[in-house]
Amino acid sequence: MTTALCAGAYLHHMQIHSADPAALARFYADAMDMSARRLDSGDWLLEGPQRRVLFTEGADKALGFAAFACRDRQGLAAIRTRVIAEAADVLPSPSPLFAADAFAVRDPDGNIIVFGLGQPEAPRKGLRGPLQHLTLATKDPDAIEQFYVGVLGFAVSDYVRDEAGQITACWMRSNHEHHTLACFRRSTAGIDHHSYEAGDWSVIKDWCDRMGERRIPIMWGPGRHGPGNNLFVFIEDPDRNWIEISAELEVVHDRAANVWPHEEHTVNLWGRGILRS
Ligand SMILES: [Fe+2]
Repeated sequence: MTTALCAGAYLHHMQIHSADPAALARFYADAMDMSARRLDSGDWLLEGPQRRVLFTEGADKALGFAAFACRDRQGLAAIRTRVIAEAADVLPSPSPLFAADAFAVRDPDGNIIVFGLGQPEAPRKGLRGPLQHLTLATKDPDAIEQFYVGVLGFAVSDYVRDEAGQITACWMRSNHEHHTLACFRRSTAGIDHHSYEAGDWSVIKDWCDRMGERRIPIMWGPGRHGPGNNLFVFIEDPDRNWIEISAELEVVHDRAANVWPHEEHTVNLWGRGILRS
């Protein structure tokens, strides 16, 4: 059952920890074209058009939680029912941005994933770039895939597997977008990067110009990923969290998951790649 996929869940906001959340708030306000305000909880809330990030005091680069909004109440209720049926714990939502009907789950790495309903957003000006996906670093991508697919009902769009058949990378979707959550095999668990979807190449150029004006270096790209076929650039924030700005991410309707050879998926492909069938 593709419960999360049927619920049309999308990455609505995230909370990231930092030893200096005020410094991160200043960086995102300036670089990522967002407004910053301090909440009663002490968190910094950064908001731009269709993008929201919370920063709270803690260990640098740790994920507080990732919050997915569902299309409607039925979708939200279906995920809760599915989680209970799979014998996973339903936890209280830690998010100040969702209402009381939101709830959370804990994945095998201890990441807190929240599901709720988004509130209507007043029109905002700013560069296009809705918050779009979170990529986790994990020592055990097979366990991550089994949780998000087997317990929550995400669908797999693409895999990378090693010679032993173990997953080294996995891109999973919870709506029509190629991935809303991904994981890479790493030596430590946590956030690998999070991403904003600029829509088309000309807007990525505008983002690059914005970074250039601020002397913020582009760390990787421009390039085009194999899985997802999206154009990308990466920058990093003062805590060295990697931020992706993406465009032209594949829309998936009903295709089967692809498997990519390990050596092909991370290079700048510019639309070219080799699929292992
Ligand atoms: Fe990404």
